[in-house]
Amino acid sequence: MGTLKRIPANCLFLCFLLLSLQGMEILDPDEVEYIRLQANGTVGGNVTLECGSVLPTIFIWGYARAGSPGNVALAYNYGQGPKVQPPAHGGPAHLSVPANTSALRLEQVSREAEGTYTCQALYDADQGARITFYYTQLVVSGD
Ligand SMILES: *[C@@H]1O[C@H](CO)[C@@H](O)[C@H](O)[C@H]1NC(C)=O
Ligand SMILES: *[C@@H]1O[C@H](CO)[C@@H](O)[C@H](O)[C@H]1NC(C)=O
Ligand SMILES: *[C@@H]1O[C@H](CO)[C@@H](O)[C@H](O)[C@H]1NC(C)=O
Repeated sequence: MGTLKRIPANCLFLCFLLLSLQGMEILDPDEVEYIRLQANGTVGGNVTLECGSVLPTIFIWGYARAGSPGNVALAYNYGQGPKVQPPAHGGPAHLSVPANTSALRLEQVSREAEGTYTCQALYDADQGARITFYYTQLVVSGD
């Protein structure tokens, strides 16, 4: 595992399912819950983007620059601990996933970090799996 590549927008969810849910009952996509959030940052500052208050069983963070259709995988946790794209890959900021959370922390945010961050979270429960997509619009101000 490990190489995070530029992948088509719709593939985030599909690949997520294919890679992670083999053998699990897959829900009707209509049952996916969508939550839209907003976050503000300043150039050079730090921002933490939330992905719910309960730790998901698995989650993947993706990023689409403002006005860009492409979605880039930034970080994920398939249950074996978080994996984050290395800064050398030209991501939007220095990234980390704080311990025991599904949040995405951005440090030394640049203008280029502005865009839409999507956390696709799957919560496994006795009643079946529940999927929530968190869309966070990050606005970066200052210079
Ligand atoms: C972000 O800034 C906008 C405009 O200043 C403000 O309306 C909004 O409430 C802020 N959002 C957050 C989450 O602080
Ligand atoms: C951002 O986080 C880093 C590391 O935790 C810290 O050293 C730095 O002071 C923070 N920057 C701001 C503007 O708070
Ligand atoms: C994360 O969870 C593990 C296991 O529950 C615990 O041992 C560890 O102290 C937690 N770390 C933090 C930073 O909360």
